[in-house]
Amino acid sequence: MKAASASDYRELAKRRLPRFIFDYVDGGAFDEVTLERNVADLQDVQLRQRILRDVSHVDPSTTLFGQKLAMPIALGPIGMAGLLARRGERQAARAAQAAGIPFCLSTVSACSMTEVTSAVDKPIWFQLYMIRDRGFMRDLLALARDQGCTTLLFTVDVPVAGSRYRDQRSGLSGAFGIKGKSRRLFQALRHPGWVWDVGLNGRPHTLGNLTPVLGPKAGMGDFFGWLRDSFDPSVTWSELDFIRETWKGDLVIKGILDAEDAREAAKLGANGIVVSNHGGRQLDGVPSTARALPEIADAVGDRLTVLADCGVRSGLDVIRMLGLGAKTVLLGRAWAYALAGGGEAGVAHLLRLFEAEMRTAMALTGVTRIDQIGRDMLARWPGLDQNRPQTR
Ligand code: FNR
Repeated sequence: MKAASASDYRELAKRRLPRFIFDYVDGGAFDEVTLERNVADLQDVQLRQRILRDVSHVDPSTTLFGQKLAMPIALGPIGMAGLLARRGERQAARAAQAAGIPFCLSTVSACSMTEVTSAVDKPIWFQLYMIRDRGFMRDLLALARDQGCTTLLFTVDVPVAGSRYRDQRSGLSGAFGIKGKSRRLFQALRHPGWVWDVGLNGRPHTLGNLTPVLGPKAGMGDFFGWLRDSFDPSVTWSELDFIRETWKGDLVIKGILDAEDAREAAKLGANGIVVSNHGGRQLDGVPSTARALPEIADAVGDRLTVLADCGVRSGLDVIRMLGLGAKTVLLGRAWAYALAGGGEAGVAHLLRLFEAEMRTAMALTGVTRIDQIGRDMLARWPGLDQNRPQTR
C-alpha cells in the first residue's frame, strides 16, 4: 500500500509491528474514551471557507522561541521509539531536520541523546519527567545543555502511570517471566520484517538515556521496574523552581489541561506550555485537547507560548489546533506510525503530506500566513455553545 495519510501509516504500522508494540503505540488508558475524543473533537472543529482572497503565495513557516520553523509542527516525545524501527529516534530526528522542524527526544528513548545529536546538525529538544533521583535529573539536564538542546519539555501529567488495558492484554506490561517473554517472542516471530529490522539489526538494544542508571545489559523488565519506582508523585509546583533554576534554555511544561494550572505555569516563569492529556494515555474521561485548548489559550496566551497536541492526524488538524489557540502543534502517534510504517523516509513523507495539507487548508480558508490564523477562521468548535452564546 502506498500511504497517503497518517491513518494509512497506522495500517502499515499495524502490519509491520508485533502486536504488543503496536498496542503500546496505538492504545490509551482504560476504555480509551479520551483517546477517541481527542481525534473526534478535533475533527468536529469546522473551518470557515473563505473565497477570492489571493492565496497564490501561502507560507506555512513560523517562529517559535526565536527559531524559524518551516511549519508550526514539532515531533513530540515518544518513549521507546527505537522499538518501532531500527535506531528509531535517530531516524525520526533526521526526518524532522530535513523538514525544518524540531524533534523532541523522550527521557525514555532507545537511542541515547548523544546518538541522536550526532546524527543531526540542528539542535534537538529534550523531554524530562520528574524523577526521584534529582542528581540523575541534574546530569540529564547538564547533558542536554552540553548537547546543545535548546528547549526542555518538562512533562507533568505522569505522577502515576495510567492504566492501559491493551498493554495488559497483549503482554507488554506486568509479564516479564518466561510466559510473558515467550508470548512476546511468538508475536514477534509473526513479523519477520520487524525481527530483521529492529530485533536483529537494531542492536545494540540500549535504554538510551537510562543506561547510566540501569547498566548496558538492562532489559524490558528492568525498564518497567525503573518506571514504576522512579517517577516522583510527591512533586508540587514549588519543586518546579528546581527545574527553572537548573535549566536556562526555553522551558515548556507539557501536560496542562486546566486553565488554573496554566496560570501556575505562567507564574513559574515557564516560556510555554503544551496543552495535552498525553494522547489519552493517562486519565481516561478527561476532556480532549480540542475542548480544553480555547479556554487555556485565552487565559495565558498573552503570557506564554501555548503549544498543543493529541489527536492530530493531518495538516488540516494542525490548522484546526492553531485556530483553537495553539502557536505550534506536537505530533505524537502520527509520526510514530510513519516511523513504524516507513522509517526515516516514512516520517519525511508524512511531514511533506502535512505541509501540503496545511497549504491547501490555508488557501481554502483564505489565509496566506500562519499569524493570520485565529479563532475567527472557525465556524464551530467543541464547547462553543457553553463558551459563547451564538447570536446568528
Ligand atoms: C507518548 N507520549 C509521551 N510524552 C512524554 O512527554 N514523554 C514520553 O516519553 C512519551 N511517550 C509516549 C509514547 C507513546 C507510544 C505515545 C503514543 C505517546 C505522549 C506524546 O508526547 C503526546 O502527548 C501524545 O502522543 C499526543 O497524542 P496523539 O497525537 O498521539 O494522539
